[in-house]
Amino acid sequence: MDVYEAVTTRRAVRGFTDEPVPREALERVLSAAAWSPSGSNLQSWNSYVVTGAPLAELKKRAGERVAARDSWDEREYEMYPTDLKSPYRERRSAFGHERYSALGIEREDWEARQRAASANWDCFGAPAALFCYIDRDLGRPQWADVGMYLQTVMLLLRAEGLHSCPQMAWSVYRKTVAEILSPPNGLILFCGMSIGYEEPAVGYARTGRAPLDETVTFVHG
Ligand SMILES: Cc1cc2nc3c(=O)[nH]c(=O)nc-3n(C[C@H](O)[C@H](O)[C@H](O)COP(=O)(O)O)c2cc1C
Repeated sequence: MDVYEAVTTRRAVRGFTDEPVPREALERVLSAAAWSPSGSNLQSWNSYVVTGAPLAELKKRAGERVAARDSWDEREYEMYPTDLKSPYRERRSAFGHERYSALGIEREDWEARQRAASANWDCFGAPAALFCYIDRDLGRPQWADVGMYLQTVMLLLRAEGLHSCPQMAWSVYRKTVAEILSPPNGLILFCGMSIGYEEPAVGYARTGRAPLDETVTFVHG
Protein backbone atom coordinates (compact mmCIF):
# COMPACT_ATOMS: atom_id res chain seq x y z
CA MET A 1 0.00 0.00 0.00
CA ASP A 2 1.44 3.38 -0.93
CA VAL A 3 1.17 6.42 1.30
CA TYR A 4 -1.66 8.02 -0.70
CA GLU A 5 -3.71 4.86 -0.39
CA ALA A 6 -3.04 4.67 3.34
CA VAL A 7 -4.13 8.31 3.74
CA THR A 8 -7.27 8.00 1.64
CA THR A 9 -8.43 4.67 3.08
CA ARG A 10 -7.93 5.76 6.68
CA ARG A 11 -11.13 6.92 8.25
CA ALA A 12 -12.63 6.83 11.70
CA VAL A 13 -14.08 3.31 11.73
CA ARG A 14 -16.80 2.80 14.32
CA GLY A 15 -17.55 -0.89 13.97
CA PHE A 16 -15.00 -3.69 14.38
CA THR A 17 -15.08 -7.48 14.26
CA ASP A 18 -13.79 -9.40 17.26
CA GLU A 19 -10.95 -10.93 15.22
CA PRO A 20 -7.86 -10.47 17.40
CA VAL A 21 -5.15 -8.08 16.25
CA PRO A 22 -1.81 -9.89 15.99
CA ARG A 23 0.64 -8.62 18.56
CA GLU A 24 3.44 -8.68 15.94
CA ALA A 25 1.44 -6.28 13.73
CA LEU A 26 1.03 -3.86 16.64
CA GLU A 27 4.72 -4.11 17.42
CA ARG A 28 5.65 -3.45 13.78
CA VAL A 29 3.34 -0.43 13.65
CA LEU A 30 4.50 1.08 16.92
CA SER A 31 8.18 0.46 16.18
CA ALA A 32 7.84 2.26 12.84
CA ALA A 33 5.66 5.05 14.29
CA ALA A 34 8.45 5.80 16.76
CA TRP A 35 10.18 7.40 13.74
CA SER A 36 7.56 10.18 13.74
CA PRO A 37 9.04 13.66 13.95
CA SER A 38 8.98 15.77 17.12
CA GLY A 39 10.52 19.10 18.01
CA SER A 40 14.10 18.50 19.22
CA ASN A 41 13.24 14.79 19.01
CA LEU A 42 11.43 14.94 22.36
CA GLN A 43 9.20 11.98 21.35
CA SER A 44 6.42 13.44 23.45
CA TRP A 45 4.07 10.44 23.22
CA ASN A 46 3.45 7.76 25.87
CA SER A 47 1.35 4.91 24.54
CA TYR A 48 -0.36 2.01 26.25
CA VAL A 49 -1.70 -0.83 24.13
CA VAL A 50 -4.48 -2.86 25.71
CA THR A 51 -6.08 -6.11 24.54
CA GLY A 52 -7.71 -9.20 26.06
CA ALA A 53 -8.83 -9.30 29.70
CA PRO A 54 -7.64 -5.81 30.71
CA LEU A 55 -9.49 -4.25 27.76
CA ALA A 56 -12.61 -6.28 28.56
CA GLU A 57 -12.42 -5.03 32.15
CA LEU A 58 -11.98 -1.43 31.00
CA LYS A 59 -14.99 -1.68 28.67
CA LYS A 60 -17.01 -3.25 31.49
CA ARG A 61 -16.16 -0.50 33.98
CA ALA A 62 -16.74 2.26 31.45
CA GLY A 63 -20.03 0.63 30.42
CA GLU A 64 -21.14 0.61 34.05
CA ARG A 65 -20.44 4.33 34.30
CA VAL A 66 -22.41 4.99 31.12
CA ALA A 67 -25.34 2.89 32.39
CA ALA A 68 -25.27 4.70 35.75
CA ARG A 69 -25.16 8.06 33.93
CA ASP A 70 -22.12 8.78 36.05
CA SER A 71 -20.78 12.28 35.63
CA TRP A 72 -17.69 12.70 33.49
CA ASP A 73 -14.26 13.13 35.07
CA GLU A 74 -13.20 16.75 35.34
CA ARG A 75 -11.45 17.86 32.22
CA GLU A 76 -7.69 18.06 31.97
CA TYR A 77 -7.96 19.88 28.65
CA GLU A 78 -10.81 21.42 26.69
CA MET A 79 -11.77 19.32 23.67
CA TYR A 80 -13.11 22.37 21.81
CA PRO A 81 -13.41 26.08 22.55
CA THR A 82 -16.78 26.75 24.22
CA ASP A 83 -17.72 29.29 21.57
CA LEU A 84 -16.59 27.59 18.38
CA LYS A 85 -16.43 30.20 15.65
CA SER A 86 -17.00 30.02 11.91
CA PRO A 87 -16.04 28.02 9.84
CA TYR A 88 -15.32 25.40 12.51
CA ARG A 89 -18.82 25.59 14.00
CA GLU A 90 -20.41 24.81 10.64
CA ARG A 91 -17.95 21.99 9.95
CA ARG A 92 -18.70 20.44 13.34
CA SER A 93 -22.40 20.65 12.76
CA ALA A 94 -22.05 19.13 9.25
CA PHE A 95 -20.04 16.28 10.77
CA GLY A 96 -22.72 15.61 13.42
CA HIS A 97 -25.39 15.59 10.73
CA GLU A 98 -23.41 13.20 8.48
CA ARG A 99 -22.53 10.87 11.34
CA TYR A 100 -25.99 10.54 12.82
CA SER A 101 -27.94 10.48 9.58
CA ALA A 102 -25.76 7.54 8.44
CA LEU A 103 -27.11 5.74 11.50
CA GLY A 104 -30.69 6.81 10.74
CA ILE A 105 -30.81 9.07 13.82
CA GLU A 106 -32.83 12.30 13.69
CA ARG A 107 -31.13 15.54 14.70
CA GLU A 108 -33.54 16.02 17.66
CA ASP A 109 -33.26 12.43 18.94
CA TRP A 110 -30.87 13.15 21.79
CA GLU A 111 -31.30 9.72 23.42
CA ALA A 112 -30.36 7.88 20.21
CA ARG A 113 -27.36 10.17 19.73
CA GLN A 114 -26.24 9.40 23.28
CA ARG A 115 -26.61 5.67 22.66
CA ALA A 116 -24.49 5.92 19.50
CA ALA A 117 -21.88 8.01 21.30
CA SER A 118 -21.71 5.50 24.17
CA ALA A 119 -20.26 2.94 21.73
CA ASN A 120 -17.05 4.95 22.15
CA TRP A 121 -16.58 3.36 25.56
CA ASP A 122 -16.94 -0.11 24.11
CA CYS A 123 -14.24 0.80 21.57
CA PHE A 124 -16.90 0.18 18.90
CA GLY A 125 -16.31 -3.54 19.49
CA ALA A 126 -12.57 -3.37 18.74
CA PRO A 127 -10.36 -6.05 20.30
CA ALA A 128 -7.40 -3.68 20.78
CA ALA A 129 -6.99 -0.12 21.96
CA LEU A 130 -4.18 2.36 22.34
CA PHE A 131 -4.20 5.12 24.95
CA CYS A 132 -1.91 8.04 24.34
CA TYR A 133 -0.71 10.24 27.19
CA ILE A 134 1.34 13.40 27.22
CA ASP A 135 3.36 14.88 30.04
CA ARG A 136 1.46 17.63 31.84
CA ASP A 137 4.51 19.91 31.71
CA LEU A 138 4.83 19.84 27.92
CA GLY A 139 3.40 22.61 25.76
CA ARG A 140 1.34 23.09 22.63
CA PRO A 141 4.13 22.18 20.18
CA GLN A 142 4.53 18.84 21.95
CA TRP A 143 0.77 18.17 21.64
CA ALA A 144 1.31 18.64 17.92
CA ASP A 145 4.12 16.04 18.08
CA VAL A 146 1.62 13.60 19.58
CA GLY A 147 -0.84 14.33 16.76
CA MET A 148 1.78 13.53 14.14
CA TYR A 149 2.64 10.33 15.95
CA LEU A 150 -1.00 9.23 16.16
CA GLN A 151 -1.59 9.86 12.46
CA THR A 152 1.53 7.86 11.68
CA VAL A 153 0.18 5.00 13.79
CA MET A 154 -3.16 5.14 11.96
CA LEU A 155 -1.53 5.10 8.52
CA LEU A 156 0.72 2.19 9.43
CA LEU A 157 -2.32 0.30 10.73
CA ARG A 158 -3.78 0.63 7.22
CA ALA A 159 -0.64 -1.01 5.82
CA GLU A 160 -1.40 -3.96 8.12
CA GLY A 161 -5.00 -4.17 6.85
CA LEU A 162 -6.23 -2.71 10.14
CA HIS A 163 -8.52 0.24 10.88
CA SER A 164 -8.74 2.64 13.78
CA CYS A 165 -10.74 5.36 15.44
CA PRO A 166 -9.00 8.05 17.51
CA GLN A 167 -11.16 8.93 20.52
CA MET A 168 -10.96 11.97 22.73
CA ALA A 169 -14.14 10.53 24.27
CA TRP A 170 -11.96 8.40 26.53
CA SER A 171 -10.63 11.53 28.24
CA VAL A 172 -13.96 11.95 30.06
CA TYR A 173 -13.51 8.53 31.67
CA ARG A 174 -9.80 9.00 32.21
CA LYS A 175 -9.96 7.80 35.83
CA THR A 176 -11.38 4.45 34.75
CA VAL A 177 -8.65 4.15 32.11
CA ALA A 178 -6.07 4.95 34.80
CA GLU A 179 -7.47 2.20 37.08
CA ILE A 180 -6.54 -0.33 34.38
CA LEU A 181 -3.29 1.20 33.11
CA SER A 182 -1.83 2.80 36.26
CA PRO A 183 0.07 5.50 34.34
CA PRO A 184 2.64 7.49 36.34
CA ASN A 185 1.55 10.78 37.88
CA GLY A 186 2.07 13.75 35.67
CA LEU A 187 0.59 12.37 32.46
CA ILE A 188 -2.58 13.64 30.79
CA LEU A 189 -4.67 11.22 28.74
CA PHE A 190 -5.02 12.88 25.34
CA CYS A 191 -7.04 10.15 23.63
CA GLY A 192 -7.78 6.52 23.12
CA MET A 193 -7.74 4.74 19.78
CA SER A 194 -9.80 1.69 18.87
CA ILE A 195 -7.91 -0.73 16.63
CA GLY A 196 -9.08 -3.77 14.70
CA TYR A 197 -10.60 -5.16 11.54
CA GLU A 198 -13.60 -3.32 10.15
CA GLU A 199 -17.08 -4.79 10.56
CA PRO A 200 -18.50 -4.04 7.12
CA ALA A 201 -22.13 -4.32 8.30
CA VAL A 202 -21.86 -1.09 10.30
CA GLY A 203 -23.11 1.88 8.25
CA TYR A 204 -21.10 5.05 7.92
CA ALA A 205 -20.96 8.24 5.90
CA ARG A 206 -17.62 9.23 4.48
CA THR A 207 -16.79 12.66 5.89
CA GLY A 208 -16.16 15.48 3.44
CA ARG A 209 -13.40 18.05 3.38
CA ALA A 210 -13.35 21.76 2.71
CA PRO A 211 -12.21 22.74 -0.80
CA LEU A 212 -8.46 23.20 -1.01
CA ASP A 213 -8.66 26.98 -1.36
CA GLU A 214 -10.45 27.22 2.01
CA THR A 215 -7.54 25.73 3.91
CA VAL A 216 -4.48 26.25 1.71
CA THR A 217 -3.03 29.44 0.31
CA PHE A 218 -0.45 29.08 -2.42
CA VAL A 219 1.85 32.07 -2.56
CA HIS A 220 3.47 31.84 -5.96
CA GLY A 221 6.76 33.47 -6.75
C1 LIG B 1 -7.95 13.93 18.14
C2 LIG B 1 -9.19 13.26 17.62
C3 LIG B 1 -10.16 12.86 18.49
C4 LIG B 1 -11.31 12.22 18.03
N1 LIG B 1 -12.23 11.76 18.95
C5 LIG B 1 -13.27 11.01 18.52
C6 LIG B 1 -14.15 10.40 19.46
O1 LIG B 1 -14.02 10.56 20.67
N2 LIG B 1 -15.12 9.60 18.97
C7 LIG B 1 -15.31 9.39 17.64
O2 LIG B 1 -16.22 8.64 17.27
N3 LIG B 1 -14.49 9.97 16.72
C8 LIG B 1 -13.48 10.75 17.13
N4 LIG B 1 -12.60 11.30 16.21
C9 LIG B 1 -12.78 11.04 14.78
C10 LIG B 1 -13.26 12.27 14.01
O3 LIG B 1 -14.63 12.48 14.22
C11 LIG B 1 -12.94 12.05 12.54
O4 LIG B 1 -11.56 11.90 12.37
C12 LIG B 1 -13.41 13.21 11.66
O5 LIG B 1 -14.81 13.36 11.73
C13 LIG B 1 -12.99 13.02 10.20
O6 LIG B 1 -13.51 11.80 9.71
P1 LIG B 1 -12.58 10.62 9.18
O7 LIG B 1 -11.52 10.38 10.22
O8 LIG B 1 -13.49 9.43 9.04
O9 LIG B 1 -11.96 11.06 7.90
C14 LIG B 1 -11.48 11.99 16.65
C15 LIG B 1 -10.48 12.42 15.77
C16 LIG B 1 -9.36 13.04 16.24
C17 LIG B 1 -8.28 13.44 15.28
